[in-house]
Amino acid sequence: MAAAVETDDLTRSFGEITAVDRLNLTVSGDEVFGLLGPNGAGKTTTIKMLTTLLPPTSGRAHVGGFDVATQQAEVRRSIGYVPQLLSADGQLTGRENLRLSARLYHMPRSERDGRIEDALRLMALTDAADRLVRTYSGGMIRRLELAQAMLHQPSVLFLDEPTIGLDPTARATVWDHVQDLQASMGTAIVLTTHYMEEAELLCDRVAVMHRGVIAAIGTPEELKAQVGPEATLDDVFTHFTGADINEGGRFRDIARTRRTASRLG
Ligand SMILES: Nc1ncnc2c1ncn2[C@@H]1O[C@H](COP(=O)(O)OP(=O)(O)OP(=O)(O)O)[C@@H](O)[C@H]1O
Ligand SMILES: [Mg+2]
Repeated sequence: MAAAVETDDLTRSFGEITAVDRLNLTVSGDEVFGLLGPNGAGKTTTIKMLTTLLPPTSGRAHVGGFDVATQQAEVRRSIGYVPQLLSADGQLTGRENLRLSARLYHMPRSERDGRIEDALRLMALTDAADRLVRTYSGGMIRRLELAQAMLHQPSVLFLDEPTIGLDPTARATVWDHVQDLQASMGTAIVLTTHYMEEAELLCDRVAVMHRGVIAAIGTPEELKAQVGPEATLDDVFTHFTGADINEGGRFRDIARTRRTASRLG
C-alpha cells in the first residue's frame, strides 16, 4: 500500500519568505499525524500543497500514491479536507451541505442518501440535519465539516486546526468523533493543532514545525523523552520553537544541554 503522504524536499516560497523549506515527511496509511508549530510555521501551507490547492515552488509530494503536481484529480478523489476557516454554508441545512459535497465528489446517486445518513449518524448530527447551519454551535459546524470531508470515503483526511475556537466540551466531542471516524474507516489523518492535549490524545506521531522546517518528529512519548524526564508536550513545543525565538542563537546549546541533562536523568 502506498504511503498516505510522502514528500521529497517539498518547498513553497512567497517572495522572500520560504514558508515550507525542503520538507521530507512520510505518513503511513493508517496513521494519525499531527503538525504542531507556532503561527506562521508553515503548517497550512504544507496542507495546501498536499491538497493540491497550492503548487509547490520546488520538490515533490505524493498523496495516496498520486503526485500532487501532475495527478491533481486523483489526489483530490483520495482526500478529504477540513480547512482552517469554517467552510460549511450557514444558509443551508446540514443535510443540504452534505448533498452539495456529495455532488462535488461525483458520488453515485444511488449511494448518496445512505452515505449522508451514515455520516450524520457518525457525527451525531441526525437530529440537527434539517436545521440551518447558522443555528449550529461551533462544535456542530466542525462535526458537519468532518462529515462533508469523509462522505466519499477518502483514504487521507486533512484537518487544519479542527478544534480552533471551540470550548473544551465541544473540543472533546470533536476528538471523540475523529477517533470514531478513524476507527471505523481506517483513514490516515493529517491534522494541525495548537492544542498539545489534542495532539497527545489523537496523534500516533507529531512533527514540530518551525520557520518552514521540521524541528522534531516522533511519537509524543519519544519527543517528551528527548526533552527531559518529566517533560510534557508543551515543554517539547517550547523547547523546539519558543527557545529559538527567545534565546536566538543559543538554541542549539540549550538543546544540547537539555539532551545531556535528560540522558543523565
Ligand atoms: N498567500 C500567501 N502570500 C504570502 N505569504 C503567505 C501566504 N500564505 C502564507 N504565507 C506566509 O507563509 C508563512 C507560513 O504561513 P502558514 O499559514 O503556512 O502558517 P501556519 O503554520 O499555518 O500558521 P497558523 O498557526 O497561524 O495557522 C507565514 O509567514 C505566512 O505569512
Ligand atoms: Mg495555519
